[in-house]
Amino acid sequence: MANQRVLTGITTSGTPHLGNYAGAIRPAVAASRQAGVESFYFLADYHALIKVQDPARVQQSTLEIAASWLACGLDPDKVWFYRQSDIPEIPELTWLLTCVAGKGLLNRAHAYKAAVDKNTAEGNDADAGITAGLFMYPVLMAADILLFGAHKVPVGRDQVQHIEMARDFGARFNHLYGKAYFTLPEAAIEESVATLPGLDGRKMSKSYDNTIALFADAATLKKQIMGLLTDSKAPGEPKDTEGSALFQLYQAFATPEQTAAMRKAFAEGIAWGDAKQQLFAVIDAEIAPMRERYNALMADPARIEAILQAGAAKARAIATPLLRELRHAVGLRNLGTALPSQSHASNEKPAVPVFKQYREKDGKFYFKLSHANGDVLLQSKGFDNPREAGAFLAKIKAEGKAAWHALKEVSELAELAEESHVLDALEALFQDAAEIG
Ligand code: TRP
Repeated sequence: MANQRVLTGITTSGTPHLGNYAGAIRPAVAASRQAGVESFYFLADYHALIKVQDPARVQQSTLEIAASWLACGLDPDKVWFYRQSDIPEIPELTWLLTCVAGKGLLNRAHAYKAAVDKNTAEGNDADAGITAGLFMYPVLMAADILLFGAHKVPVGRDQVQHIEMARDFGARFNHLYGKAYFTLPEAAIEESVATLPGLDGRKMSKSYDNTIALFADAATLKKQIMGLLTDSKAPGEPKDTEGSALFQLYQAFATPEQTAAMRKAFAEGIAWGDAKQQLFAVIDAEIAPMRERYNALMADPARIEAILQAGAAKARAIATPLLRELRHAVGLRNLGTALPSQSHASNEKPAVPVFKQYREKDGKFYFKLSHANGDVLLQSKGFDNPREAGAFLAKIKAEGKAAWHALKEVSELAELAEESHVLDALEALFQDAAEIG
C-alpha cells in the first residue's frame, strides 16, 4: 500500500503553551516517526493574517512555532516541514477551488456563522467587521490539504467541518474536470489526546489567559505551576484526583507508576505545595532538554529560515507539477498548444458516473453504476421485479455512501472496482443530488 499522507497546519498567531505541546506537538512528532507515514507539517501564516494584523506578532509567532516543533524533535529530513507563504501554489490553488466552492456551504462554516450570529445578536449588520478572509478560510485550508494529497488530517472537533468542506471542494473539482486530481481527505479526530487544564482549571487556552508557556525558563515555569488553582484542603486532608487540574497535568507528563504514586499521595493528603513541586519536577524533566534546543534555535533565526527554505523546496517538488496539471485541466493553457478539436473535446467531457437499470436475459432486473469511461463500478444482484431494483437505486441516490455500505452488507451489491473509485463516484453523484434537493 502507498504511504499514508498525514498533514497538519499550525496557525502562527501565538506562543506555544503546554496544552499545545501535549495536545498537538508531542503526538504529532511521535506519529511522524512511524513507518509508512508521510507527514506534512506547516506553519499556516496566511491563516494567521485572518486574526492577527500585527506584523511583528506574525513574525515572532512564526519563529517561535518553528523553533518549538524542531526543538520537540520534528526531523525536517524525514517530514515535510514548511511555511505556507513559501508555497505560491497554495494561494493559486485557493483560487481554483474558490471557483468551485459553493458560497452557500461557506455561509454555513461555524467560524463565519458564529461571527454573523454575534453581530445579529448585538443588533449590527450581519457582516459587520467580518473580512472576506474569515469567510474564505475553509477554501484556503482545503488548498493546504488537497495540494499535497493528504489522506488524514488530525484535527480537533472544531475543525472537522473544514475537512468535510475540503472533501466537498475536491470532489466537485474532480467531478467537473473529469479526473481524480485530488485525494479526498479524512479527519482523524484525536480522541485519546490530552486536552490539558490551564492554571484556573478550565481548558488551557490563550483565550482564557490561563496558559503555561512551553519554553519559559525553569524559574518561570515553577512560578506558574505554584500558582495553579487548587481547592483549599489542608495538608493531611485526603484530596480528590477527580476534577483536579494538578492531577491531570501530572498524569500528562508522568509515567503510569508515578501517576499511581501520586494518586496514593492524594488519598493520603499530600500538601498542595508538595504536589506542585512534584508536578514541576515531572514537567521540567521532559521539557528541559527541549528548552535547551529551543533556546539555541531562537538564537539563530537564520538557521530556522534555512530549514524552512529547504522544506519549501521539498514541498514544491510535489506542488509545482500538480499545479501545472491543474492549470491545464481548467483551461489556463499555453495558447501555442492545439485547441482540442470538437471530437477531442467530447473525450474531455466531465466523467459523470451513471446509474443504469436494465433487464437481463435471465429475466431479472438489475442496476449498475458505471464510470463515464464505461467501467462498471457497482453491480446489483438480480431482482425479480423492477420496482424492487428501483427502490434500492432510489435509496443509493438519496443516501449516497451510507446506503452503499448498508447494501453491501446484505450483498445486494457487488463492488467491481477499487473501493476508492466507487466512493468517488457516489460522492460526485450524491453531491449533485444534494444540490438539486
Ligand atoms: N485551521 C487550522 C487551525 O486553526 C490550521 C490549519 C490551516 C490547518 N490549514 C490547515 C490544519 C490544514 C489542518 C490542515 O487549527
